[in-house]
Amino acid sequence: MNDRLLKALRCENEGRPPIWMMRQAGRFLPQYQEMRKTHSLMKLFRTPALAMEVTLLPIDILDVDAAILFSDILFIGEALGWKINFPDSGGIEITPPEKIVVHDVKETLGFVFETIELVKPKLSVPLIGFCGGPYTVARYLQRFDLLQPLTDLTIEYLRLQIQAGVDAIQIFDSWAGELSSEDFQKLSLPYLRQIVDALRPFPTILFCRGSCRYAQELASLQPHAISLDWEKDLSLMRQKIPSSIALQGNLDPDILRGPLPQLLTKTDHILTSMQGQKGFIFNLGHGVLPDTPIENALALIGRIKNS
Ligand code: CP3
Repeated sequence: MNDRLLKALRCENEGRPPIWMMRQAGRFLPQYQEMRKTHSLMKLFRTPALAMEVTLLPIDILDVDAAILFSDILFIGEALGWKINFPDSGGIEITPPEKIVVHDVKETLGFVFETIELVKPKLSVPLIGFCGGPYTVARYLQRFDLLQPLTDLTIEYLRLQIQAGVDAIQIFDSWAGELSSEDFQKLSLPYLRQIVDALRPFPTILFCRGSCRYAQELASLQPHAISLDWEKDLSLMRQKIPSSIALQGNLDPDILRGPLPQLLTKTDHILTSMQGQKGFIFNLGHGVLPDTPIENALALIGRIKNS
């Protein structure tokens, strides 16, 4: 097994950094667009054999060092009775229940665990499972009174993902970075702490948009890694965050869209600023954009592998 990612998460890696890309499973891959012509998004998410195929696409096409499960952070809402639908017209439909009832996570999200079990034996790279941060999920459900039940369900959901076979977990608290410092401390951090502590020593990666601004707060939770946006230079962030915590990032996804010379210059800058450092995972600062040319992603990965 290619264990570059897992070694980097323990800050024990040598040689070139591992690379994978947030939102690599899907939208910008021509093969995924092809699958979407015959299957609705909901069918892809909910049919384990199809979700497995999408999870494997970036491994086959891009040869990245990790796979991320093809699913979505919002499905956990179904464990509280919400209906989550991604209509073919785009966007998302979130329907609250008349009365909140806690459903069995193993049963309600069974399609996710089944996908993990199917995909795992087909992989020679680690599989990343994931969840949304309770604040971000609560924001979509428009119910900030549910932060604690969402946290409890998320912990159960992640334990079941681990049991099914994932090798690491990334927590996407995408919207938390928009909060004021006071609200971040109150509405995001305590719930992330509970999740990281409950899973410890299992490797967790924390991500939020604006993570450079709140990196020290995130570091106080002692996750294995923090995924950083492109607001600051990684070498600067490395000085602020304890060396026992790996850094992941931080190419601007807009730069990945091209032009190529600019992409390669920026990539080299990031590589040079982290040269010789253990505990560095190359990634984007946020998800890959849908109109990114596949050639650019291949050029980026080639550059990392030859570094
Ligand atoms: O990273 C991967 O490739 C794995 C799969 C994955 C999806 N969503 C598939 C998806 C992951 C990790 C996510 C995370 C996610 N989902 C986040 C956090 C990450 C981030 O980008 O900040 C958030 C906020 C969501 C919620 C969500 N999912 C919304 C609001 C929507 C509809 C509108 C939109 O943004 O497109 C989705 C749809 C969704 N999730 C799609 C896929 C493949 C369909 C649209 C697309 O192809 O991107």
